[in-house]
Amino acid sequence: MAIRGYVFDAYGTLFDVHSVVEAGRAVTTDPAALSAIWRQKQLEYTWLRALMGRYEDFWAVTEAALRYAVRRLGLTASEEAIGRLMEAYLSLACFPEVTAALERLAGRPRAILSNGTPRMLAAAVASSGLGRHLQHVISVDAAKTYKPAPQVYALGPRTLGVPAGELLFVSSNAWDVAGAKAFGYQVAWCNRTGAPAEELGVSADLVIRGLDQLPV
Ligand code: LAC
Repeated sequence: MAIRGYVFDAYGTLFDVHSVVEAGRAVTTDPAALSAIWRQKQLEYTWLRALMGRYEDFWAVTEAALRYAVRRLGLTASEEAIGRLMEAYLSLACFPEVTAALERLAGRPRAILSNGTPRMLAAAVASSGLGRHLQHVISVDAAKTYKPAPQVYALGPRTLGVPAGELLFVSSNAWDVAGAKAFGYQVAWCNRTGAPAEELGVSADLVIRGLDQLPV
């Protein structure tokens, strides 16, 4: 099937959240542990809020997850430190191959579809310099729920005016790959870490190690 547009997940796919890990050094000697619990809890809270029908935006969810992670590890963090950790989300870099990879796909629409709030995504697009390679930045905030809710994935085809089956959805998050495939996109899994596939009964059409391997 021909590809008439590309829809990208944001965090971990385009944007490298390494600077978030680095910011953790201010409150712990093991920032990787803080970052891992923070990210896992952030995702859990999106799934739980989606199921409970209790949407709060991704900035609020991310801060709640951070506060949980700090307590879970028995750390203390001042309000100032919490603020600085959160700020790290607003100044992310993209992975090294991303700019050239998006440039290679020029000619067909390229979009972000992310849990991030419009403000978080605008800040990350600006700090990574990806703006000129993206035609749309779509936030789940328009649907007031989270991935993998079908209403969220529906924002892609609706915004681009192209059926899901003619779009390539690209994510490094295996669960997001499953959600997008279940919805009806063609899907590429950018498996940066060599992770095992999810056991959810759907699989990616394509597995790549970096975005430079995307089909044109
Ligand atoms: C996002 C999360 C899933 O950008 O990484 O939607």
